[in-house]
Amino acid sequence: MNYRETYRASLDDPETWWMQAAEAIDWDRKPQKALTDLGDSLYEWYADGMVNGCWNAVDRHVAAGRGTQAAIIYDSPITGAKSTITFAELQGRVASLAGALVAQGVGKGDRVIVYMPMVPEALEAMLACARIGAVHSVVFGGFAANELAVRIDDCTPKAILAASCGLEPGRVVKYKPLLDGAIELADHKPDVCIILQREQERAELIPGRDLDWHAARQGVTPADCVPVEGNHPAYILYTSGTTGAPKGVVRPTGGHLVALHWTMKNIYQCDPGDVFWAASDVGWVVGHSYICYGPLIHGNTTVVFEGKPVGTPDAGTFWRVISEHNVRSFFTAPTAIRAVKREDRKGLERQKYDLSCLRALYLAGERADPDTIEWAGDILDVPVYDHWWQTETGYTIAGNPAGLEALPVKIGSPTVAMPGYDVQILDEAGHPMKPGELGAIAVKLPLPPGTLPTLWNATERFRKSYLTTFPGYYETGDAGMIDEDGYLYIMARTDDVINVAGHRLSTGAMEEVLAGHPDVAECAVVGVSDALKGQSPLGLLCLTTGVNRPHDEITAECVKLVREKIGPVAAFKNALVVDRLPKTRSGKILRATVVKIADNQDFKMPATIDDPAILDEIRAALKTIGYAQES
Ligand code: COA
Ligand code: AMP
Repeated sequence: MNYRETYRASLDDPETWWMQAAEAIDWDRKPQKALTDLGDSLYEWYADGMVNGCWNAVDRHVAAGRGTQAAIIYDSPITGAKSTITFAELQGRVASLAGALVAQGVGKGDRVIVYMPMVPEALEAMLACARIGAVHSVVFGGFAANELAVRIDDCTPKAILAASCGLEPGRVVKYKPLLDGAIELADHKPDVCIILQREQERAELIPGRDLDWHAARQGVTPADCVPVEGNHPAYILYTSGTTGAPKGVVRPTGGHLVALHWTMKNIYQCDPGDVFWAASDVGWVVGHSYICYGPLIHGNTTVVFEGKPVGTPDAGTFWRVISEHNVRSFFTAPTAIRAVKREDRKGLERQKYDLSCLRALYLAGERADPDTIEWAGDILDVPVYDHWWQTETGYTIAGNPAGLEALPVKIGSPTVAMPGYDVQILDEAGHPMKPGELGAIAVKLPLPPGTLPTLWNATERFRKSYLTTFPGYYETGDAGMIDEDGYLYIMARTDDVINVAGHRLSTGAMEEVLAGHPDVAECAVVGVSDALKGQSPLGLLCLTTGVNRPHDEITAECVKLVREKIGPVAAFKNALVVDRLPKTRSGKILRATVVKIADNQDFKMPATIDDPAILDEIRAALKTIGYAQES
């Protein structure tokens, strides 16, 4: 079947289509049906099946004779370490870590926070949870203690698996003080923390609460795989929403196994045994789906890369890893390619390596600009496939099904909707729009398997965030259009979420922090254009009456505050004091207009603006820090 037929079949008869797809997975009890309609726009997939994620990612490959195949290749240009873990070794390591968790009283349904850098043990931690039916929640290492505390209180973990440190170029990020600080801040306290001591930083363990990673495993019985219901949460992954409180996206076990397996061949063109590499981080959804689960479920070797696209040690790192480890499909964020392009526009580093193993480059996480796509295609001489997805979906909503049928690439479009996703463009009233017309991108319910069935402990918030604007649809939060050929174009967010270096960040969360500064009366954070990172946050601050300290001091304190409260990942480096903020007559801050002014783009004067004269003031203020420049 070609793409069109496959896609149509998935929408016309989802039950049959997804039951067939489910055959690629080992079930302890096969589901009798795919979809359950719970009413009120809530759905579940494979709810009556029994399955184990770790079995499918690890044990079944050993049972099938792939035990000696590399499951994980670890390559750390930061430390110089390289190692390979076979599926058989991974099975042993994961079973003993799972045994340690069981010995600490962790069982099916208990939550476990994983706070780890890009080391193989991070994957082992996730898989150990999956093995015993515990629900992991990985927290990205670039978040501050406060963000970790918020997640601890929301998912109330019984255990935390962490490393002593992460490694950023030129900087050891000590995780243990952040972890201790977070536990101190949180109301909920975990029973146990299991700490991987790295040689770059040995952490103090707190007696009675902390255990050493290796010691915790000694003498325990390795744990077997525990079958869980198809709708059992595999993990919770927090992502930024409009407000400061992150949203706990729930990933259902059965659906995510089935869907990820399908994508490995049909999108990423991998056959079992091939090496697949996603240069992301386990803290993001790409890391969950395509560093850990997807490739392993499909019997591929995955690469755990602890480094950066540039500076570790040079702009040839990506190409070295691809060449050295025989990577067939490579996935990264456009920002990472832009970083390489900025340092090595001529592609001289690339010429040092034989990249004949590489079949395609996949980009996601943010808008892929045409220059970056073209540059990458030219120097790599392989197709470059943009694809669009979200933490909420866990895999591609729109992409090029190259393993099924490679569709012509239209630069600027992530191509077409994937099976199960009935993607539509809606106007404000929720009516479908014509090809070429710009509107809100929505997906007709039900969403396909593997996508979020709800938010952790927050079904009402789930409804409010995604289901109420367009009844019968999932609201993606992105705006765009579909052309006459069915190609989708992603143009902008419809909310105040911004995307910095492929990281999704909440301007609302940053505003909450800034508002906590004693001298700040009111503020707005906007995402302005950034040549490397796509967007970067800029804070506009109105000071409390009577404050007459130097503005530089206040803005520097604000920058520090955001780093302390949210973390370095927020990349909040710019703040500006202004007299007033532009608002509508009803008091809504006109953030989008500020962005247009900062980026020196044309804009229509908002009809509801309270006082148009403020815009000139804002433009003048932005000019003082290098924005709003005429090109
Ligand atoms: N732990 C601790 N700190 C981290 C971190 C982590 N895991 N990841 C990033 N940080 C820190 C960085 O060190 C930096 O700190 P600094 O302000 O002291 O310099 C800050 O967070 C901002 O990081 P980032 O936005 O990533 O910028 P950068 O200048 O370090 O690197 C790129 C720029 C383009 C090289 C980098 O952003 C990159 O590789 N991007 C690809 C992103 C990606 O893979 N996204 C996943 C979606 S697919
Ligand atoms: P995240 O949940 O962090 O993966 O962020 C998802 C958001 O990133 C989407 O809603 C989009 O706004 C943006 N995004 C992801 N992939 C793409 C893409 N290929 N093109 C444009 N925007 C993208």
